[in-house]
Amino acid sequence: MAARLLPLLVLAVSLAWPASCKPLPVLVPVTKDPATLLYTIPFHYGNDLVVDTAGPLVWSTCQPGHLPAEFPCNSDTCRKANAFHVPGCHAPGCGRDGRKGSTCTAYPYNPVTGACAAGDLVHTRLVANTTDGVHPVSQVSVRAIAACAPSSLLKSLPRGASGVAGLAGSDLALPAQVASAQNVSNKFLLCLPRGGFSGDTGVAIFGGGQFQVTAQPGRDFTQELLYTPLVTKQGMPPAHYVSIQSIAVENTRVRATGGAVVCTKVPFTLLRPDVYRPFVYAFARALTAQGAQGGPVARRVKPVPPFERCYDARSLANTRIGYLVPGVTLTLGGGKNWTMNGLSSMVDIKPGTACLAFARMEGVKGRDLAAPAVLIGGFQMENTLLEFDMAKKRLGFVRLPFFTQCGHFNFTKTGY
Ligand SMILES: *[C@@H]1O[C@H](CO)[C@@H](O)[C@H](O)[C@H]1NC(C)=O
Ligand SMILES: *[C@@H]1O[C@H](CO)[C@@H](O)[C@H](O)[C@H]1NC(C)=O
Ligand SMILES: *[C@@H]1O[C@H](CO)[C@@H](O)[C@H](O)[C@H]1NC(C)=O
Ligand SMILES: *[C@@H]1O[C@H](CO)[C@@H](O)[C@H](O)[C@H]1NC(C)=O
Repeated sequence: MAARLLPLLVLAVSLAWPASCKPLPVLVPVTKDPATLLYTIPFHYGNDLVVDTAGPLVWSTCQPGHLPAEFPCNSDTCRKANAFHVPGCHAPGCGRDGRKGSTCTAYPYNPVTGACAAGDLVHTRLVANTTDGVHPVSQVSVRAIAACAPSSLLKSLPRGASGVAGLAGSDLALPAQVASAQNVSNKFLLCLPRGGFSGDTGVAIFGGGQFQVTAQPGRDFTQELLYTPLVTKQGMPPAHYVSIQSIAVENTRVRATGGAVVCTKVPFTLLRPDVYRPFVYAFARALTAQGAQGGPVARRVKPVPPFERCYDARSLANTRIGYLVPGVTLTLGGGKNWTMNGLSSMVDIKPGTACLAFARMEGVKGRDLAAPAVLIGGFQMENTLLEFDMAKKRLGFVRLPFFTQCGHFNFTKTGY
């Protein structure tokens, strides 16, 4: 009996331990909320969290009566949770806020409204699948630390979302937590969906690895990434910064001194006023030149705020790469070009009207060089594979070809 079972046991063991025991990255689907244009990921058991590439913490409205974890004020975890002070947040500091005991208090904040609140730190779990970069592989429950927040902090976030998954480079942001819990690298891939039709689901993969989509089996898009350094400066909030050399519209260069921040909480790319004005002029001039050279003559229509340059969509030529409009190129640190065609630069804001999908940064004076020149918004990242590598301090980017999209990742497990 035992002798007959032995080969089966050997087979079972060899299936459970494939050739390599290297830990696999962790996969989550990304959904775009049509009302707020924010992106969410499932965290566990029906709890969706908003993706915030500039967020330093994971937070959610905890279950009523939750047991606060025992993180004393003087613990390393408490220090990490309070490493970043949110401007305008009245955070009295651990142990000094009048509450009993000396349990750690964290100050989660809402990336859209900027509001903050005090909350306990708790242990939680991210329930997801591991991946080989092609399919999901097996379910995992990844331990993590989150801050609790009152439900009032959910204002302006998508309906049904119960908190925020901060994806900044800091220690208690989700990528670093998955990296230490799963022993994968402190990096993540992000491929945001355009949304708007059912089944268009993007992908986030914590730990990196390869990335393939069904349209082109065997093509690993991470091999095609262009890299620019992630910039860290003391005293800056924990977002992902890159430096920017210039912005070009076709052949016209627009000066853009300073940095760019990758910002999923901003639906469309925002330009600092000193960059925005010449950028819009350069675009309008290049579009007129296209018409003068025998191209379609774009007909301007009433602006649809926050956009200024809007056109009658019928007067633009529509191609596989979107409207045929002047190309926009961000030249990033290291001289690498992030190029944007009509699919990324123009938005169909309402039936028959397409607008240049860049807006003016509000609340920033002319050439306030303390502000980033560019906040790269969600729309411009869609269907572009991004690799945020905190270990190697670099950001990789590549636009997927027009015939495929982030939603073409295969979320079906392979049967053995
Ligand atoms: C893991 O993948 C399977 C197969 O695609 C899917 O049914 C399941 O919902 C996934 N689990 C999680 C937690 O996403
Ligand atoms: C983590 O992974 C590295 C390389 O992938 C390996 O050398 C190391 O032994 C692993 N550590 C643990 C605790 O599994
Ligand atoms: C990047 O774009 C700029 C502006 O369009 C162009 O002058 C430059 O040659 C491009 N560089 C590369 C490496 O393609
Ligand atoms: C996704 O993967 C499954 C399992 O390997 C396969 O049967 C299916 O054909 C794939 N889907 C597409 C669209 O390629």
